[in-house]
Amino acid sequence: QGNQQWGGRYSGGPSAIMEAINASIGFDRKMWRQDIRGSLAHAAMLRHVGIISADDEAAIKEGLTAIGAEIEAGEFPFSEALEDIHMNIEARLTERIGEAGKRLHTARSRNDQVALDVRLWVRDAIDGLDKQLADLMQALVERADEHAATVMPGFTHLQPAQPTTLGHHLLAYVEMLGRDRSRLGDCRARMNQSPLGAAALCGSGFPIDRHMTAQALGFDGPMRNSLDAVASRDFAMEFLAALSICATHLSRFAEEVVLWTNPYFGFVKLSDAYTTGSSIMPQKRNPDAAELVRAKVGRVAGALVGLMTVMKGLPLAYGKDMQEDKEGIFDAAETMALALAATAGMVRDMKPDAARLREAAGAGFSTATDLADWLVRELRLPFRDAHHVTGHLVAKAEARGVDLSELTLEEMQAEEPRIHNGVFQVLSVEASVASRTSYGGTAPVNVRRMAAEWRERLA
Ligand code: ARG
Repeated sequence: QGNQQWGGRYSGGPSAIMEAINASIGFDRKMWRQDIRGSLAHAAMLRHVGIISADDEAAIKEGLTAIGAEIEAGEFPFSEALEDIHMNIEARLTERIGEAGKRLHTARSRNDQVALDVRLWVRDAIDGLDKQLADLMQALVERADEHAATVMPGFTHLQPAQPTTLGHHLLAYVEMLGRDRSRLGDCRARMNQSPLGAAALCGSGFPIDRHMTAQALGFDGPMRNSLDAVASRDFAMEFLAALSICATHLSRFAEEVVLWTNPYFGFVKLSDAYTTGSSIMPQKRNPDAAELVRAKVGRVAGALVGLMTVMKGLPLAYGKDMQEDKEGIFDAAETMALALAATAGMVRDMKPDAARLREAAGAGFSTATDLADWLVRELRLPFRDAHHVTGHLVAKAEARGVDLSELTLEEMQAEEPRIHNGVFQVLSVEASVASRTSYGGTAPVNVRRMAAEWRERLA
């Protein structure tokens, strides 16, 4: 038997395969709240402009509210034959309230309805993810403040470069996440226009009030072109792009947690709460949460590429291809919610080993730049010459198997006779980080100031 929502001209029903490929109710039921919210606004507008009666609107409101309760209670009879969430809810509404239910779809199409629902869903998702991003940033800022002076190795090429502090390192992620938040905010601002009332593609001959529904649903206004309203998913692509970038940030941090918890690094420890054991190797403590966060970007960026590929070459206006937008959007948003929660959990859980970090910070001649800078400042050597002299001293220390600070003054003077005892003051990791007070530099005073600034911004 055919779909009673549109089967007027049909005498036969769809094949089982047609139904299977066509139905989206298995995943778009996630938008039931948004669908009901949109229908309530639409019904109120239809009554306001006199297309339906006050009684009809009251019945629709009551019916939709009851349906919401049914879905929430897990008692809603979802039907695959009714294709999607829109027709499932509408059919049930008519079942419950009769005639009035059949009037709800006046001046509306599933094309503007679904465009609306997805927008509302993404907007809600942005609001939730924004809160989580703020929470993760807060966690990082707390730890950064606590470890503003905890010296650790700074790397380039993953080789020892210069000493930095754990606080400075963590605040680098706060900056990245701050931009992620702002990207999501931009996306939200740009997408916050209502497609409702575009109907199938050309708008409606009924005297609908699109400004009214837009306002009721929290939009800045109605979208200006009905074709664009039903055909565009750039808001979703932008959302996925912003999430993909954010996911790369989480992935980089997660990779560092994996490295840092490796005993050869030994920089931080995670508790039982954020590690797992091995079914065979009794000694194991694996950073699975970090590994999974490191990997999640694959799904999120996959959703972006997936949607762009669906949209590419699609002629205006609506095409059923667009039904393929949802699973990727839902999965990416849910994946990010979990990844953000796991990352915040790890940040709060991790125990840095300050002694080990300090020891590692001094390895690999990490204060060689400080020595070269000293030669420039004290002896007026051109930096290029200072670089050269320091290179020789590093080679000498390396050959003897000692640190730069363990070379004797005589050994240093053999390279540059004017070097004096004052040089040893700049060779410690503490002196190195404390000296870098340039704006945005790693000095603990800077880190404390930045942490305070962020704390204020996040409050
Ligand atoms: N389930 C559809 C989707 O997700 C709803 C819109 C269907 N519109 C149509 N004309 N068949 O895109």
